[in-house]
Amino acid sequence: MALRNLRLDGDEILRKKSREVEKIDDRILTILDDMADTMYDKDGVGLAAPQIGILKRLVVIDVDDENLYKMINPKIIKSSGEAVDAEGCLSIPEKRGEVVRPSNVTVEYTDINGELKRLDAEGLLARCICHELDHLEGILFTDKMTKQVEG
Ligand code: NI
Repeated sequence: MALRNLRLDGDEILRKKSREVEKIDDRILTILDDMADTMYDKDGVGLAAPQIGILKRLVVIDVDDENLYKMINPKIIKSSGEAVDAEGCLSIPEKRGEVVRPSNVTVEYTDINGELKRLDAEGLLARCICHELDHLEGILFTDKMTKQVEG
C-alpha cells in the first residue's frame, strides 16, 4: 500500500490535459493501485491521475465500496438526461457545490488486463465518471458549479 500526495486546487497540474496511456506496464498498474489506496485513505469515491501529479488518462472509482473500477483511457461515448446534485473533490477540500451532469452515461475504457470494457452508469456512478473524466481535461467541478452548498 502506498499513498501519494494529493495535488490541491491552485496547483497548475490540475489544469493540464492528460495524455493517453499507450502501454499498460507495471508502472501504470502501480499508479492505479496507489490511486485506489489514496482514494480510500481520504474516503473519496473517485480519483484521477492528475490529482497525484501524473498527467495520464487514469481514473479510479468506487462509489459503493463494492466495485472498484480502474479505468485506463476512459471515454464517455453516450450520455443522456440531466441531474443536479452536490459534489466535492479531494483536491478542493471543504467545498461542495451543485453541478448539472447527465443522469446516464456509457463509458468505454481499457481495464488492467488490456481489455476494452463498456459500462452503463446512472446516479452517483455516472456523476463520478463525469467528474473524474473532467479532471483529465483540466476541468474542476467548481468551473461548472451552479451553487455552493454547505457541508
Ligand atoms: Ni475531483
